[in-house]
Amino acid sequence: MIEFPPLKNDLILRAARGEKTERAPVWIMRQAGRYLPEFRKEREKYDFFTICRTPELATLITLQPINRYDGLLDAAIIFSDILVVPQALGLIVEMVPNKGPHFPSPLETPADIDAKLNKKVDVYKELGYVFDAITMTRLELKGRVPLIGFIGAPWTLMAYMIEGGGSNNLSKAKTWLFKYPEEIFESWGGELSPHDFKTFSLPYISQIADSVKKQCRDDGIIPVPMTIFCKGSWYALESLSEIGYDTISLDWTIDPTYAKNVTKGRVTLQGNMDPCMLYGGDEAIRSTVRTMLEAFGTYEKYIVNLGHGILPTVDPEATRVFLETVHSVGLELNKD
Ligand code: CP3
Repeated sequence: MIEFPPLKNDLILRAARGEKTERAPVWIMRQAGRYLPEFRKEREKYDFFTICRTPELATLITLQPINRYDGLLDAAIIFSDILVVPQALGLIVEMVPNKGPHFPSPLETPADIDAKLNKKVDVYKELGYVFDAITMTRLELKGRVPLIGFIGAPWTLMAYMIEGGGSNNLSKAKTWLFKYPEEIFESWGGELSPHDFKTFSLPYISQIADSVKKQCRDDGIIPVPMTIFCKGSWYALESLSEIGYDTISLDWTIDPTYAKNVTKGRVTLQGNMDPCMLYGGDEAIRSTVRTMLEAFGTYEKYIVNLGHGILPTVDPEATRVFLETVHSVGLELNKD
């Protein structure tokens, strides 16, 4: 067993477990990314998936925002991508600069599942670099903040594997759902109708929460808090709060009061400032953060974040204003 340094800041874990916090913790989706000049500098030297596959580089980049915003972020998130899973299954995935992911040979019909995917994946062989990057990052963090890990939900991964990249309407992936429903292994969110979400996504994300928590217990580990982010699936909030996740991440289209009413304190809520608000200038950022914190409440069951990933052209100093305001307003509101 590796001995990891004890945590100096466990605010986010306490918030996820529903315990009271002296201020609402904060992290940012895609916090280690292209809006940071230090990230772009590394990206000039290395291909995206080379960084993911090289634990030293993944560690270096995961720590970039933690170092730059020293003391302002309450969690690190491991630098990787959800598309390492389709790679482990045998598909080629390229990351095209300024365009996004590209699969040169996506799944076209159910026969491709046998033809193109490895059925028996040796996870340690194919994804061992992820485990190594996580271990190295945890050691390098020296207990400053907890480390978040992540995985793509099944429907999202399936959609990429069939579409072969980003898509406006997911017509190919949906053709599969509706034409070959028995072929579907698992699923995802906001592009599905509420009925299809219940059929193709909810059962599988529910199964994932159950099996991860069971595995933790079987291994003698206190189950780690788990977050679900189903962008666009406001209609599924109630069901999502009942399937074993500790935290639900919200996009910016969801009203905080609505989310609190529907989830009835069963889960911690995370989110949800519009990422474009970071273009709005310091005053707009400050007043939006205040309104958001007042609406969610800062002393329990709330983790501050954006409603989706930070955009590549955001000024890192605007991000600092966001983080500083979260701290100052969070402390101020907790005094009342
Ligand atoms: O949040 C973090 O800092 C951790 C790293 C992280 C990345 N991707 C790095 C990344 C995480 C958690 C992801 C998750 C991810 N990846 C999701 C789910 C969350 C979401 O955004 O909805 C999805 C759908 C992907 C797939 C993916 N990866 C897309 C669609 C793209 C292109 C779009 C874009 O933002 O450019 C990526 C590329 C990607 N993943 C980049 C980063 C830093 C930029 C790639 C580059 O450097 O060229």
